[in-house]
Amino acid sequence: MASRSVIRLVPSQQTSDGAGVKLNRSLGSQLLPDLDPFLLLDMFGSEEGADYIAGFPDHPHRGFETVTYMLDGRMRHEDNAGNGGTLGPGGVQWMTAGRGIVHSEMPEQEDGLMRGFQLWVNLPAKDKMCPPRYQNLEAEEIPEVTAADGVRVKVIAGEAEGTPGAVNGIAVAPLYLDLTLPAGARYTADVPSGHTAFVYPYEGSVMIGDADVVGAGTMAILGDGDTVGLTSTDGESRLILVAGKPLNEPIARYGPFVMNTREEIVEAFRDYEQGRF
Ligand code: FE2
Repeated sequence: MASRSVIRLVPSQQTSDGAGVKLNRSLGSQLLPDLDPFLLLDMFGSEEGADYIAGFPDHPHRGFETVTYMLDGRMRHEDNAGNGGTLGPGGVQWMTAGRGIVHSEMPEQEDGLMRGFQLWVNLPAKDKMCPPRYQNLEAEEIPEVTAADGVRVKVIAGEAEGTPGAVNGIAVAPLYLDLTLPAGARYTADVPSGHTAFVYPYEGSVMIGDADVVGAGTMAILGDGDTVGLTSTDGESRLILVAGKPLNEPIARYGPFVMNTREEIVEAFRDYEQGRF
């Protein structure tokens, strides 16, 4: 068993997206455009309605998957195929946009804490034009296991402690864990060798391996190995651990479209403008 260690730290940067929602972006910016197979990681978090109330009105996606994980607050989503619902605290929406959807993601509250993540996961070339698919999971549908030291693990995707995650059938065989480590607790997670992996602490700070202490709001990219050791160093800490199989395919990207060639991006614009999503 080889333990993974940190190979790069990427501090998140404040930005805004949608109709003016304030975000902390650690992946998908100039600092780190992509991390195969991942394309974007945003954390949103504010108690001020003004920071998020504008939401994400109608916008398209093609060629990848968007994963929304709500920690606090409620978001309403609707798409052009008539699907809709509410994502509440602890809920996950794994949306495979495939050949295209147009949707909106709007806060269902005017004030109070709204906090969560959006991750973009690339699709292999052969799946980019697949029919859209949704996996909507409420908090109760996401398995939570308690490990040694009182560590709590929500298994969104992949596997932890022999417990399979709630999301299935995703091309890059993702691991997506949300971990809560009490003060001083240590947890060793299995992460498939050869898969791209990162840790993003969002409360407290965590020691990764036996060396690097990483605080909330910084993405720690991990080198290869098949486990990662995590130790809470500063009171309770909370973090996500995400991994996935790299695709090793060319990326052509423009805004909400992620394809393999420039021609496919031009085609995506044309299809969208002609209402073919
Ligand atoms: Fe979206």
